[in-house]
Amino acid sequence: MKNIGILTSGGDAPGMNAAIRSVVRTAISLGLGVKGVRKGYNGLIDGDFIDLDARSVSDIINRGGTFLYTARSPKFKTEEGMARAVENCKKNNIDGIVVMGGDGSFRGALDLSERGIKCIGIPCTIDNDIAATDYTIGFDTAMNTAVEMIDRIRDTAQSHDRCSVVEVMGRHAGYIALNTGIAVGATAILVPEAPLDMDYVINKILETQKTGKQHFIVIVAEGIGGIADISKEIEERTGIVTKATVLGHVQRGGNPTLRDRLVATQMGYAAVQLLNKGVTNRVICMKGEKIYDEDIVAALQMKKSIDCDLIKMAEDVAI
Ligand code: ADP
Ligand code: F6P
Repeated sequence: MKNIGILTSGGDAPGMNAAIRSVVRTAISLGLGVKGVRKGYNGLIDGDFIDLDARSVSDIINRGGTFLYTARSPKFKTEEGMARAVENCKKNNIDGIVVMGGDGSFRGALDLSERGIKCIGIPCTIDNDIAATDYTIGFDTAMNTAVEMIDRIRDTAQSHDRCSVVEVMGRHAGYIALNTGIAVGATAILVPEAPLDMDYVINKILETQKTGKQHFIVIVAEGIGGIADISKEIEERTGIVTKATVLGHVQRGGNPTLRDRLVATQMGYAAVQLLNKGVTNRVICMKGEKIYDEDIVAALQMKKSIDCDLIKMAEDVAI
């Protein structure tokens, strides 16, 4: 291993920059050359590479987004796109690549591995929906942003004795919704992993109203969808003025939290150690506080489930 590449792919996540910095500096301390690949797999196809040194990654540990840019690349999934990507790696003497992204990006890494380019994945997504790892880079920052925003919504819901229904991100997963819902003291939390039960939501609001509660927060994961209809139903069935807010991409930006910077640095470090040993086709994972690595094929087959005890606890304390 003489030269490695780094790319960020799929949706961005706060902490990607900190992970890039860690990869670059670990590689340089091991005597490896490093090239940044811009715009995800598109950069491999187009040969959009930049040389990186220790100073190229100064002042990015604290910045959200990814300074290498990211993209979704349908072309990479074609034989032609992949062949061009491999050819460009060879032309630029790139022997291994650190791929930062989610499951889709790891499928791409697997394809590259099978074509002779060594790849290590680093899980980056605010959704925390990668089964092999307890934690994905960006999750903590996104949740802290959501909590800050919902606290603001709570102020105005309280002043007006209203109900606020807030949609947080999570395409197929309710991890952001569940954790932020608990942290903001939501009356009800709706996640895609459980069937939508509007009777439960309405009863919770009416029951807590009977004991003096006058404003209500309902958190809905994006994967549930239809928060306008949910809000309308709450208003119609309870008589409480109900406002809907979609937090959206505000959750994907902003300065990464300490946790995201720390995990990003640990995962970047571990990824380069593996590449330097000639290891390929692994994804860096976290179990508890421990960093380890898992085979990408095995990782892609794993299923993650939501913590039912946490759901029950959230329901029990929302009285
Ligand atoms: P994420 O990595 O966040 O899950 P996507 O699913 O959008 O995001 O995947 C990011 C990119 O990874 C895609 O645009 C594509 O270039 C590549 N990719 C996704 N799935 C595959 C696949 N089955 N084979 C090869 N490349 C893939
Ligand atoms: O996977 C992260 C995520 O932010 C999801 O929560 C959301 O559904 C999706 O990406 C949005 O993607 P885009 O920015 O392409 O609209």
